[in-house]
Amino acid sequence: MTEDIKKGLAGVVVDYTAISKVNPETNSLLYRGYPVQDLAAAKSFEEVALLLWNGELPSEVECSEFCAFERANRALDSRVKAAIDLLPVDCHPMDTARTAVSVIGANHPLASDSSPEAELRKAKELFAAFPAVVAYDQRRRRGLDLVEPREDLNYAQNFLWMTFGEEAAEEVVDAFRVSMVLYAEHSFNASTFAARVITSTLADLHSAVTGAIGALKGPLHGGANEAVMHTFDEIGIDKNESREEAAARAKAWMEKALSEKKKVMGFGHRVYKHGDSRVPTMKAALDRMIEYYSRDEILGLYDGLQVAMDEAKGIQPNLDYPAGPTYHLMGFDTEMFTPLFIAARITGWTSHIMEQRASNALIRPLSAYNGPEQRSF
Ligand code: SDX
Repeated sequence: MTEDIKKGLAGVVVDYTAISKVNPETNSLLYRGYPVQDLAAAKSFEEVALLLWNGELPSEVECSEFCAFERANRALDSRVKAAIDLLPVDCHPMDTARTAVSVIGANHPLASDSSPEAELRKAKELFAAFPAVVAYDQRRRRGLDLVEPREDLNYAQNFLWMTFGEEAAEEVVDAFRVSMVLYAEHSFNASTFAARVITSTLADLHSAVTGAIGALKGPLHGGANEAVMHTFDEIGIDKNESREEAAARAKAWMEKALSEKKKVMGFGHRVYKHGDSRVPTMKAALDRMIEYYSRDEILGLYDGLQVAMDEAKGIQPNLDYPAGPTYHLMGFDTEMFTPLFIAARITGWTSHIMEQRASNALIRPLSAYNGPEQRSF
């Protein structure tokens, strides 16, 4: 009897969620009912985090209370720093991130308290503490010292301050904020589902986030934004090249890659089949960064690859495609791009962890056996 296997759980609806709605028919994404484009245009990342966790946009009082809490919990814990310092300086930043979250969890006084209040507090603390992990990791890889957080800066401003040791321009801060809002949440993607599976056994929040980080690392998922930049580097970035010349080289690269049956990271999506709803907003932010840094050749590479992929296979970019070059222009090392995705997705992951726990059932699918029939030795 042939089983109706749904490989990769493609098209399988496994549970309800009230956190976000991904609609491929209308190519739209709602966070608790609000279009992500509207949120990216008008709300801080702090406000979007509260929306995802609580289901409603915060009042001014609620927002200022959370911002005060977040600003007071940004410093890199000395025990986390000590653990990071034990890691090779050239280990992958996703390994640093995974380790840091484990150390935060191992030291957390509420680690085994899964009450809704404790879960939300741990989520907010992780949201506040994680940027310092990313910032410190990029700096130590460059032989630079830790930069302490500043309480007079908002989340996005402070993230860039701790990473680069200088105040970023408003244009750069806003593009970074947009990327955080767009990366925050996307229903049952692989890393979020991994977090829900771990939570369904009643394991703790930090174990679920650590597992989600492991899932996000793969280039078929979050690791794609890093892989996009490796593609740009492989084609070659020449600041003196015109947009047209760069586009021509990128087109040739894509045609060769596809002729060799390569999967080109940054393109395609399991759910969206006519383009990723988040791309226009992220691409507009990339365009602002290309103008700010006068890097037209990056636009040439971007357009060349996209046109060639569309002509050859009709496959559209996903969010990772414009996000990668945007982070590159801001000065982040390529290997830091997926940890930036973590910083944003901590909000989505922890929202799903709390939702799973509030209406739990152990996640344990079936398998169809196709090994040897019973036999004796
Ligand atoms: C994210 O799920 C989420 O929501 C994830 C995410 C989120 O916010 O959490 O949106 C973030 O992970 C975005 C996706 C990032 N990944 C990549 O950019 C990796 C490259 N993309 C592909 O690997 C692929 O598109 C997937 C994995 C994303 C989705 O693939 P599916 O749905 O499993 O489809 P498939 O791999 O079976 O491809 C179907 C066809 C194949 O052609 P045939 O072999 O049938 O001829 O399309 C082709 C594929 O070869 N194809 C690609 C391609 N993506 C699909 N061909 C070349 N390059 C690609 N990128």
